[in-house]
Amino acid sequence: MHVVQYHKHMESPHKPKPLSTSLFYLFLLLSTNLLTLFISTNFYSSSSLCASDTAATAISASTTTAHTVTHPNLDDSRNTLDLPPEFLAFTSAQKLPFGFNTNMDSDHIIPPVGSPCTLFPNELRRYMTYKVNGSCPDDELLAQKLLLKGCEPLPRRRCRPAAPPEYVEPYPLPTSFWTTPSDKSVVWTAYTCKNYQCLIDRMKTQKGFDDCKDCFDLLGREKVRWTTVGTNLDFPIDEVLAVKKPGTIRIGLDIGGGVGTFAIRMKERNVTIITTSMNLNGPFNNFIAARGVIPMYISISQRLPFFDNTLDIVHSMHVMSNWIPTTMLHFMFFDIYRVLRPGGLFWLDHFFCVGDQLEDVYAPLINSIGFKRVKWVVGPKLDRGAELREMYISALLEKPLKNSW
Ligand SMILES: *[C@@H]1O[C@H](CO)[C@@H](O)[C@H](O)[C@H]1NC(C)=O
Ligand SMILES: *[C@@H]1O[C@H](CO)[C@@H](O)[C@H](O)[C@H]1NC(C)=O
Repeated sequence: MHVVQYHKHMESPHKPKPLSTSLFYLFLLLSTNLLTLFISTNFYSSSSLCASDTAATAISASTTTAHTVTHPNLDDSRNTLDLPPEFLAFTSAQKLPFGFNTNMDSDHIIPPVGSPCTLFPNELRRYMTYKVNGSCPDDELLAQKLLLKGCEPLPRRRCRPAAPPEYVEPYPLPTSFWTTPSDKSVVWTAYTCKNYQCLIDRMKTQKGFDDCKDCFDLLGREKVRWTTVGTNLDFPIDEVLAVKKPGTIRIGLDIGGGVGTFAIRMKERNVTIITTSMNLNGPFNNFIAARGVIPMYISISQRLPFFDNTLDIVHSMHVMSNWIPTTMLHFMFFDIYRVLRPGGLFWLDHFFCVGDQLEDVYAPLINSIGFKRVKWVVGPKLDRGAELREMYISALLEKPLKNSW
C-alpha cells in the first residue's frame, strides 16, 4: 500500500529511457566507487588511529584496481570535499583493542556508510554537525533525504535523537494492534500533519499526493486489507498461508508495508513479520512500532539485512513497480530470492505497470529469477481511466524446495 501512487509524483515514470538510464547508473556507480576509494584511501593514510603500513595493506587488498588511480591527487580531494570531522571520526579505520581478528582477517575495523554519502558534502555536513554527547538536531527530514539519495546506511552520530518532551507509552497488546497511538509518542516536525487525527482525515481534507494517504485510518481500508476479496488481484492471507503446510510460514518480511497492517494480520495468525518503511510525510515507523510489530527503516535500495535461505515469506504491495529502474528491480528480486528459504513464498501484491511493459519487460524479468508460479493474476488498474492501459500483476511465487541454487 505504500507508494501506491509513487509513480504519479515521479518525474517521467511512463517514459522509460533504458539505454541512457543504464549508462547514467553505470556512470554513477563507477564514479561513486572511485570517489569512495579515493576518499577512503585518503582517510586511512591520514588517520592517526591506524598504523599506516597495516592500513595500506588493507586498502591494497580491497581496492587493487583503483589503487593506482587514486593515489596522485589525495590532497586535492581532501580540500574540495571538506568532510565534517564527526563523519571522519566515524568512518576512519579503528584499531581493534585485541589486535588481529581472524574473522575479519584484519586488526582494523572500518565502520560502513553508504558510498554516495560523500557525494552530498553539504547535506552531510549539516547532518554531521552537532554537539558531541549532547542532543541531536531535530533533522529527520534532512536525514531521510540524505538516505534516500543513497547515503545509506547513514553514519552513526554521537548525540541523542529528538524525542517528544512527554512521551506516552504504547497501548498494551492486543489493544495496540488497532488503536491509534498517542500524539505524544511522535516528534512531528518533519510532517505536514501535527497529530494523528490530521493524518486520519487527510484523505478527505487535503488535496495533493501523499504516500499511503489513507493508511492511518485504521477503521477505513486498512480494516479489510487481505481479509476480504475486492478483485481477483486481492489474495486473502488465509488462502496464501494454505498453500503451505499449517504452521510452516512463521517469519517474514513486508517491503514498503505502509502502517504495518500486513504484519498485524500475520501476527494475529502467529506469523512474525518485519515491515520496512520510510517516513514519507508521516510517522510510519513510529506508528508501526506503536501497533506492536517491528518497523525497519531501510529504503528499497539496501541489500536486505537477512542471511541467505532464512525467511518463510516476503510480501510487497505497490512499492515494487515500474517506477524502479529495471536493473535495480532485477537486483531486488534476486535479493528477495536469496533471503527466502527453499519453499519460501514471494507474494508480489499489485505490481503496477503499463501496457506492453508486462510482456516486454516484467514477465521475463520475474521469470529469470527462478521462482515457481503458484498464482499469477493480471488485471486492469482503472482508477485513472482505462485508456492509460495501466495494469496490475498479483503473483504468488515459490522458491523451489530442491535445486534452488
Ligand atoms: C564526550 O564524552 C566522551 C566520553 O566521556 C569524552 O571522552 C569526550 O571528551 C566528550 N566530548 C565532548 C565534546 O564533550
Ligand atoms: C497462536 O499461538 C497461540 C499460543 O501458542 C495459540 O494459543 C493460538 O491458538 C495461535 N493462534 C493461531 C491463529 O494459530
